[in-house]
Amino acid sequence: MNQTKRDGFTSTFGVLVATLGSAVGLGNIWKFPSLTGANGGAGFLLVYLIATLLVGLPVMIVETMLGRAARANAVSTFERVAPRGQPGWQAVGWMGFAAALLIMAFYSGVAGWVYAYIFKAISGEIATTDPKVAAAVFGSLVSNPVSSLLWQWVVLGITGSIIMMGVAKGIEAVARKLMPLLFILLLVLCARSLTLPGAMPGLTFLFSPDFSKITPAVLLTALGLAFFKLSIGMGTMLTYGSYFRDDQNIPATTTRVMLADLSVSLLAGIAIFPAVFAFGFEPAAGPSLVFMTIPAVFTAMPGGTVFMTIFFILTAIASVGAILSLLEVPVAILSERFGFGRKRASLYTILAIALLGVPAALSQSLSAEWKVFGMNPFDLFDFLSSNLLLPLGGILICVFVGWVYGFPELEKQLGNRGTLHNAWLVKTVFFLIRFVTPLSIAAVLLHGLKVF
Ligand code: TRP
Repeated sequence: MNQTKRDGFTSTFGVLVATLGSAVGLGNIWKFPSLTGANGGAGFLLVYLIATLLVGLPVMIVETMLGRAARANAVSTFERVAPRGQPGWQAVGWMGFAAALLIMAFYSGVAGWVYAYIFKAISGEIATTDPKVAAAVFGSLVSNPVSSLLWQWVVLGITGSIIMMGVAKGIEAVARKLMPLLFILLLVLCARSLTLPGAMPGLTFLFSPDFSKITPAVLLTALGLAFFKLSIGMGTMLTYGSYFRDDQNIPATTTRVMLADLSVSLLAGIAIFPAVFAFGFEPAAGPSLVFMTIPAVFTAMPGGTVFMTIFFILTAIASVGAILSLLEVPVAILSERFGFGRKRASLYTILAIALLGVPAALSQSLSAEWKVFGMNPFDLFDFLSSNLLLPLGGILICVFVGWVYGFPELEKQLGNRGTLHNAWLVKTVFFLIRFVTPLSIAAVLLHGLKVF
């Protein structure tokens, strides 16, 4: 085959920050705290931890492995690694293509609100300790079709221009700068929150479990979060894996990313809950926690404007790497399978998201009444992707690797062709993805869906 050299990450550090950049995102700062708050704190956290270890990490390892083994986009990977006569596996890649667009349709919308909030924090528009006033400001942003869409397009414009620059010069270069900055800002916020008088109940809430709140629906939510957090089940990790270097230790890298991502979530929780409790706000505010409770919480504290601005800048930064990784799935498929240049593939992807984003962005205004299963387009896209497509993709990836791809190949890939001496680990992963992981996903999925 006459191929020019494929783009890819350039160093171990580059792989780590880019992959972490994908995992860390609105999931840590918007979803994790709001879901933890709404589902009773530490009990939910524990279930989420178990889901991450038993389900998330094994899927992340084998998904990344598939990409590196085939060195191709999500669709072509299955074409290359599936046995002859089983072309059906490519559907998993196409499912990922669809899931990426669906997720971005609402994800880029939320990122747009965050960008808008940076300016609202600086201008003082959200400087209020009355959650009702904060709710009105948020309401007027999300119910205004023009501003919702414009901010979403700003997000797509920025991330789209980065993705056009490529994997090493775009994704990796940006992650190298943003990820360290993100950690610094997060630590600043934690220091502020923990030094507030009355911070303790917030920590208790985050770290002492209440198991009475754990229902099947909550289990499904925790599992969905584990998938969403690690960017697995739809080809993002597969695509990033295809850019890993040959000497990369996949289990070690993915474990580090998982732990770092978890730390970011916990730090976000530590930055948020002590402050929420210190000023007597409601931790169970749900998805509006970040946009309604947070401004009120920050306004109530000394130095509030500065810390509030930092908070929204931090959140915006986190969203960049995650969106880049979502974009990369369709961009890689379009450019490698249809021979589009990278620029054209990126452009088509952005346009598709902008279109799908319209009903999602208008979910609080014009399309609020378009209900499917009782959900507006925004909630539906979120539900379909996190709670349905990602777990389903996860099951299929496990079944493929565990029952079709097989142990000898898995051992070769995860052991870097005999150089890593991690046989016990490969055996554990193989056992998990053959039985434990897909069965637990299936059980939670079926159980959780009956409830809805
Ligand atoms: N992990 C990111 C977050 O927590 C979101 C994300 C990026 C994602 N790529 C993904 C979620 C792929 C699911 C699938 O914000």
